[in-house]
Amino acid sequence: ADISFLFSGLIGRSWAMVFAAGGLKVKLYDIAQQQLTSALESIRKQMKELEESGFLKGTLSVEQQLALISISTDLKAAVEGATFIQECTPENLELKKKIFSQLDLIVGDNVILSSSTSCLLPSKLFTGLKHVKQCIVSHPVNPPYFVPLVEIVPHPETDPSTTERTYVLMKKIGQSPVKLNREIEGFVLNRLQYAVISEAWRLVGEGVVSPTDLDIVMSDGLGMRYAFIGPLETMHLNAEGISNYCERYREGMRCVLNTFGPVPGFSGEIEQKINQAMSEKIPAVPKVLDTRRKWRDECLTGLAKLKKEMKSD
Ligand code: NAI
Repeated sequence: ADISFLFSGLIGRSWAMVFAAGGLKVKLYDIAQQQLTSALESIRKQMKELEESGFLKGTLSVEQQLALISISTDLKAAVEGATFIQECTPENLELKKKIFSQLDLIVGDNVILSSSTSCLLPSKLFTGLKHVKQCIVSHPVNPPYFVPLVEIVPHPETDPSTTERTYVLMKKIGQSPVKLNREIEGFVLNRLQYAVISEAWRLVGEGVVSPTDLDIVMSDGLGMRYAFIGPLETMHLNAEGISNYCERYREGMRCVLNTFGPVPGFSGEIEQKINQAMSEKIPAVPKVLDTRRKWRDECLTGLAKLKKEMKSD
């Protein structure tokens, strides 16, 4: 079956590569031919680089994977024959609602309408659509080629079979889907991320630790094990099981948690302090940021390989 990706920006392109690596036929749609042409060029370049470094996903060659990807500037033609449609427009509620209401008019009863949104709730995106039972959020993590998590978030009226089919599809292409039982602001990933960011902000703001040392606590401390096991399994392993961990540490955890401050404003003096420290290390100019992002992606590639070798379940 065909998979359609609506809009070929950063995430649309990455999704297309992940699905083509999984051997599925992909159609990319965008408003301008030029955007699609440059998307194809960038996909070809990335695939070649991945092949050279031995990190191309799947069993197909670059040419075979590219042959699976077609492009169209005609929405109807782009979704014709598709069983799964992934929307990848900019994070703008009105724009996304417009796209979904257009799709609602042209799709049949068996296609899944999925959104890449990072923070718009399904009830905001899909309420009132005729095909609401077929609608779902599949939130990827950037870059999805190396970070496999996909948060699957249903609308209250989403049919359970839509959730299940999306889950199975993501598994099939080698991603790591998780199902949320109901929608919630920030989904799960960003709720955890924001909890960490806000305490980081407070600690630096209160002068407890420097911005660079704060980051080391994560990259050389907590993050080392979080790449392999989550916080709950960490508890389980750091004592003789969860109950024993709670018995030993519940009071201590509650004491520390009671000292947490309010939600930060993420502005003013603390923002300047963190900006200065980060910019000294990595000047915020496109060339330097791009070099650092490239290095980050290489690290993630190596980590993905290591995780595959170490896979225990
Ligand atoms: P992007 O800006 O790179 O791509 C947007 C695409 O939409 C472009 O292909 C552009 O041609 C097209 N487009 C259509 N109508 C447009 C209009 N009126 N104005 C501007 N562009 C228009 O965006 P990106 O980063 O690919 O994000 C897409 C979705 O994926 C968003 O919902 C975002 O929240 C989500 N997402 C993004 C992540 C990221 O790290 N970039 C991570 C996870 C999800």
